[in-house]
Parts: sequence; structure tokens; C-alpha cells
Amino acid sequence: MNRIRAKILGTGKSLPQKILTNADLEKIVETSDEWIRTRTGIQERRIAEPSEATSDLAIAAAKIALENARVQPDQIEAIFTSTCTPDMFFPSVSCLVQSALGAKNSAAMDISAACSGFIYGLATAKGFIESGTFKTVLVIGVDTLSKITNWKDRATCVLFGDGAGAAVIQSSQDGSGILSVFLGADGNEAEILKVPAGGSRLPASPEVLEKNLCSIRMNGPEVYKLAVTKMVKASEKAAEMAGIQCSDLKLIIPHQANLRIIDSVAKRLNLGPEKVFVNVQKYGNMSAATTIVALDEAQKEGRIQRGDLVELVAFGAGLTWGASVIRW
Ligand code: ACO
Repeated sequence: MNRIRAKILGTGKSLPQKILTNADLEKIVETSDEWIRTRTGIQERRIAEPSEATSDLAIAAAKIALENARVQPDQIEAIFTSTCTPDMFFPSVSCLVQSALGAKNSAAMDISAACSGFIYGLATAKGFIESGTFKTVLVIGVDTLSKITNWKDRATCVLFGDGAGAAVIQSSQDGSGILSVFLGADGNEAEILKVPAGGSRLPASPEVLEKNLCSIRMNGPEVYKLAVTKMVKASEKAAEMAGIQCSDLKLIIPHQANLRIIDSVAKRLNLGPEKVFVNVQKYGNMSAATTIVALDEAQKEGRIQRGDLVELVAFGAGLTWGASVIRW
């Protein structure tokens, strides 16, 4: 008998309808389609409506994941939503999702690990499932970064988009499932990527809003360097923990922040383009949603078959990073 593992049974995604192209951005800030494409690979991104909140996207993605997994809401025992753009301080997005789904037998909590959030969510689900605490868990990666973007700052506003992805995870003994998760963090680098105000340190006030302190601040080049080194290390570490080589992977699904970062990571891991999933051109950086939306699309495009080894790897504010090897 194989050991109990956490296995992804079904996934789903939800993206806002509204598309913001590079040409649209040219009308908002001093930038160009050429600059954005060559520096980041991004061509367009989805933007939530003013009335559309993080939980709306999360709920829509969760419903699709449940349908694909053929799991009923009352079978879910825990909901873990990774987000850094919750609807409000409390209640959590997970509680709002639980209510909307009618998942009356479920615990619910949010996870804050920025762009690495979905992998932190997977790790949490894996731990609870392997310990026997829960059998069926819903993990969501969702963000609406457009709501905390400074639309006057060309260095950041061209990079981000909104979206949600969800995965239903259940205990399984068929030999497939999440083989390993490696997580890391370095709070010493907190300053290079942050939203300075709106929390308890600097609560929102007219002065804070005037200075745009409730929006994303980023040292781009520094983030870029650390993103590459941390994602390479995390990928290697998760592979080692799973007892495989990176060359054994059928597909790597990296955090979709920037095509140059993805290319550098793939090159250092010696993985050709056929082994790397990329959709950053369509969505930009959707933070916690990127890896799960990409995993959902990779399956639907037939890039992953039963038995394949797949690795998710991400990096985000905190700093945080993580990687996970899954046997599909
Ligand atoms: N359009 C035109 N010019 C611009 C733009 C823009 N949108 N943004 C910056 N520039 C200018 C700068 O002002 C600068 O001009 P200067 O030389 O006259 O001062 C020039 O372009 C170069 O700026 P750099 O910041 O050095 O450009 P770089 O090549 O480093 O690319 C980028 C910037 C794309 C932000 C890159 O640093 C990057 O991708 N960093 C990582 C960002 C990231 O992935 N963040 C999120 C990861 S973590 C998470 O997901 C939360």
C-alpha cells in the first residue's frame, strides 16, 4: 500500500472580463508596448471592475474546481485562500468563500505569502492531509493587485493583473500527488517590495492616501536578482526532497512575473522551452494566482498527463519563496 499523499483532484480559474493592453497603458503613463514587451514579456492583463472584489474571483474559481473534482461543497473540510489583497481585514476571504459555496463542514483561513501564496497553501493542505486531520481541502490563490497599484507609477503599474485559481486536494494512496514542498522566507528583504500603509503601522488617512502609500513600492532590479536565485534554489531543493533530478520534470510552472526571470530560471536549471509553462503575456503578474492559473491551463492544453512530474515554483514579497514537485 502506498503512503497517504495529498493529490490535486481538480482545478479551476476565474479572470476578470476587462482586458488592459499595453496600448491602453500607453495612454495612462509614459510607456510603450515595445518597452513592456521587451522588459517583461507582458502583452495584456485582466483588471477587476470597481465592484469586483477578490472573493468574487475566488468563489468563481472554486466552483469550477469543485465541479472538475466532482466534489460537493459539504465534503470540504478546510479552505485555505492565499491572498495579499483580501476584500477587507476580516472576515477572511476563505470565510466569504465558505459561505458562498455552502461548505458548511469546512474550517477557513487565509494565508499571507504574496506571490508564493499558492505554494504555501499547497504546503498547508499537504500537512493537514498527511497528518490525517483533513481528507478534502480547497486551496485558492487569488489577488486583485490592480486595487493596490499606483496607476501613476510606470515602473510598477505595467506589471500586474488580477485573477484567481483554485484546487481541490484530497488524500490519495495511488502513488500520485504532492511529493515535496520546499518553503523559504527572508524578512530582512521586506523593504524591496511592499505596500507601506493601510495596516496598523500607518493606518489609511487622507495624508497617507495623498502620498500613495497604500500602493505597491518595488525596487525592480533587486527583486529581479533575488527572484532568479531563490527560484532556482527552491526548484532544486524541492526536486531533491522528492528524490528526483530537475531533468526528470515534464513541466515546470514558474511564478509568472516576468518572462526574463522565467527564462533565466529555466536556463540555470537546464530546462528547454518545451519544459517551461508561460502565460505571463496574457495576464501579467497575478501574484498568488499565477501558478494555479498556469497549472489549470497547462492541464487543459494537454501539457501534463497522468504520471508526469510537474514542479511549481514561486517567489514574492516578504520575501517568500517555495517550490513543490507533484506526480500527476
Ligand atoms: N516604461 C518605460 N520606461 C520605464 C518603465 C515603463 N513602464 N518603467 C521603468 N522605465 C524606465 C526607468 O525609468 C529607467 O529609466 P532611466 O534609465 O532613464 O532611469 C529604465 O526604464 C530602466 O529601468 P529599470 O528599472 O532599470 O529597468 P529593468 O530593466 O530593471 O526592468 C523591471 C524593470 C521590468 C521592473 C525589472 O526590474 C523586473 O522585472 N523586476 C522584477 C519585478 C517583479 O517581477 N516583481 C514582482 C515579483 S514578486 C511579486 O510577484 C510580488
